[in-house]
Amino acid sequence: MQPKIKISASILAANAVRLEDEIKKVEKAGVDLIHIDVMDGHFVPNITMGTFIVEGVKRIAKVPLDIHLMIEYPERYIAAFAEVAGKNDFITFHIEATKKPKEVISLIKNAGLKAGISLNPNTSTDSVENFLDIVDMVLVMSVNPGFAGQKFISDVLPKVARLRSISPDEMDIEIDGGITTETISQAVQQGANVIVAASAIFKTDNPDNAIKTLRQIAEQTPRKKYILSKK
Ligand code: DX5
Ligand code: ZN
Repeated sequence: MQPKIKISASILAANAVRLEDEIKKVEKAGVDLIHIDVMDGHFVPNITMGTFIVEGVKRIAKVPLDIHLMIEYPERYIAAFAEVAGKNDFITFHIEATKKPKEVISLIKNAGLKAGISLNPNTSTDSVENFLDIVDMVLVMSVNPGFAGQKFISDVLPKVARLRSISPDEMDIEIDGGITTETISQAVQQGANVIVAASAIFKTDNPDNAIKTLRQIAEQTPRKKYILSKK
């Protein structure tokens, strides 16, 4: 069975002083996840949100959180994020940011959350292939992480296809960066099923319509068929 299409709204492009309204608006339009971009100014050249914001969002959001850690030494911070998150929430870390990926995955899973592992546009899928059996999601970055509003890097699409071909059927493959009504179908066609969008939702005049259109395009896109490896 093909995994369900899920739309994850990244609040990086939301109006920060009206976060509650912004979250309610996208939930009403049917988003599946709220994507929170945590940046430390070291792993990426930008500083954004920490546990304080995650805790606040958790009090408002009805859908699960999709916490995207773009921070060095994620192993040092999992406990703090897990404490303010909940059972169905994802915590995703970057393979480039730690020497202890197994430990990070265990920390997330032992806290009862879902674990995701992410790779930058220039990172090969080899770096995450050993972990596909123990994570719930792989996040393929389609921009260099740090900012919303960048252009989609289509060179990452073969990595999506490769990961889909070697992953358990039910595993979520997420794509993040530069998603628009044009690029979404390319990602879905190659096997991505969790679609992050910030600008394409929050920087439009009609976020409700934007979400529905993105979902409709994704659900209507034929996905490549693979002989999936049974594990
Ligand atoms: C970039 C972040 C993305 C970002 C996407 O580092 O990880 O989640 O918010 O923004 P858009 O959809 O505008 O490319
Ligand atoms: Zn992100």
